[in-house]
Amino acid sequence: MPNYETILIEKRGAVVVLTINRPDKLNALNSKVHAEGVAAFDEIRKDETVRVVVITGAGEKSFIAGADISEFEGKTPFTQRNLFQERTLFNSIDTFPKPVIAMINGFCLGGGCELALACDLRIASEKAKLGQPEINLGIIPGGGATQRLTRLIGEGKAMEMILTGEMIDAPTAFNLGLVNHVFAPEELESKTLEMANKIAEKSPIALQMAKEAVRLASRSNLDEGLRREVDLFAICFSSEDKEEGVRAFLEKRKPVFKGK
Ligand code: COA
Repeated sequence: MPNYETILIEKRGAVVVLTINRPDKLNALNSKVHAEGVAAFDEIRKDETVRVVVITGAGEKSFIAGADISEFEGKTPFTQRNLFQERTLFNSIDTFPKPVIAMINGFCLGGGCELALACDLRIASEKAKLGQPEINLGIIPGGGATQRLTRLIGEGKAMEMILTGEMIDAPTAFNLGLVNHVFAPEELESKTLEMANKIAEKSPIALQMAKEAVRLASRSNLDEGLRREVDLFAICFSSEDKEEGVRAFLEKRKPVFKGK
């Protein structure tokens, strides 16, 4: 794995922990983080031994405090549009074939919240603060929040977060369904890795098919979604993992999935 300036990558068995490493700027997403993040996800994609990715922010205070605001100054609409029309870190995560978990250890704002929204699961520390404060800068979210947040928590609540720009605390985010779990700060890492390792034991093929099928629910109509679910379900029947899963159940033992 190459060395990155703004990203740390740590392999813990079948789980990779990817840390955005700009703690002095509360891990704000500048163009370097975007470029290195896309490259890192491309690298991780090639490694068949990786089953789950956990993404987090360096330091005690912040997951990601949003886009790097200093890069907005003087930026033309065309530069910004081109940047977000190219392959972005949000898209790299969204289209990643393996589960990606956001471990939200502090401020999760703007592009940080959007990055968490592109992940499959979000697990937050009790001290995390989440929000879409772009409106305070005279702009709107551009990394997916108007769409992904709205699909996840509903139009009324998403509208409120985006129009007021106010932060919400972790228990409120949990009640809205914005995060899956909330843990004490000292437990966050162990609980997140516990879940990541549990998922990592499943068949990677089934995980990929499950991700694709669930994501279709908010991206297609019901008939198309149900049809595609049947196709993805049927594809699982071509895998050795399906034979192993069924055999292990019948033999009353734990399955060992190989991703084949
Ligand atoms: N872009 C660039 N730099 C940022 C940043 C961002 N989104 N968020 C924080 N930083 C920088 C600060 O400028 C400061 O740098 P400095 O020490 O060189 O002055 C450093 O990170 C620490 O932040 P600071 O504001 O001093 O911490 P705080 O605890 O007082 O406040 C926040 C924390 C998150 C409330 C505050 O930093 C903030 O509002 N950040 C912007 C959030 C935002 O609007 N994000 C959406 C962008 S579209």
